[in-house]
Amino acid sequence: MFKQTLLLASSVALLSASTTMCFKKEHIDPSTIETVKLEGGECGGNLSSQDMQRLGYEVGDIKISAGDTGLNYIYIFKKDEPLATVTTDGKMILTKEDLKEKLIELQDEQKAEKAEKERVGNVARGKELYTLQCVKCHGEKAELSAYNVARPLNTLSFDQMEIAITDYDLGLRKGSYAFLMKPYANNMAVDNLKAVWAYIQTLK
Ligand code: HEC
Repeated sequence: MFKQTLLLASSVALLSASTTMCFKKEHIDPSTIETVKLEGGECGGNLSSQDMQRLGYEVGDIKISAGDTGLNYIYIFKKDEPLATVTTDGKMILTKEDLKEKLIELQDEQKAEKAEKERVGNVARGKELYTLQCVKCHGEKAELSAYNVARPLNTLSFDQMEIAITDYDLGLRKGSYAFLMKPYANNMAVDNLKAVWAYIQTLK
């Protein structure tokens, strides 16, 4: 009867709280009021104020008035409850914690999906670029040492490759075959280098 459920829904925050009222009439000894069974509400004659607090309720308010032989107590208990989301067929119940977990799971899945999509896209583009522009000197599997001077590309980290390309681009590498590599480096956008590198990783 006194139970209220409050639902505040925004895009992510969902909150529910319940309130219940219990009472004790004509109570004589004030020192036992915390442990005596209370009537009404969720207490229903079985639970004391102490029991309610053990169950996670907070005492919101206590009203005390004089009765005929003792004091009348009215307790308002409040509790933040996990949100129960029930589907229309009444099957699924999610608590607030569940929801939070689900949300994080979903976000992780979306991130992983996006990363995988990006990787697959990169690999496809990288394959095209590598086959068109690099394979003849660096080998089918990026395993060759071009002109016996370059390190096999399949042994390079992305950073090593990027540094090398930047160096050729700026004319900082002075090897006798660097001039062969320079035009490719001059044309290489960093996105394309990422794609080529991603493709090379699939050749190992
Ligand atoms: C005409 C042959 C040729 C082609 C085509 C070519 N390279 Fe090279 N590449 C070389 C040579 C030769 C070197 C070594 C040059 C030097 O430093 O003396 C080299 C070096 C490199 C290095 C540095 C390796 C190291 O040991 O640090 C990278 C990275 C590289 N190439 C990437 C590429 C990529 C990516 C492509 C395709 C876009 C490509 N190359 C196309 C000949 C080529």
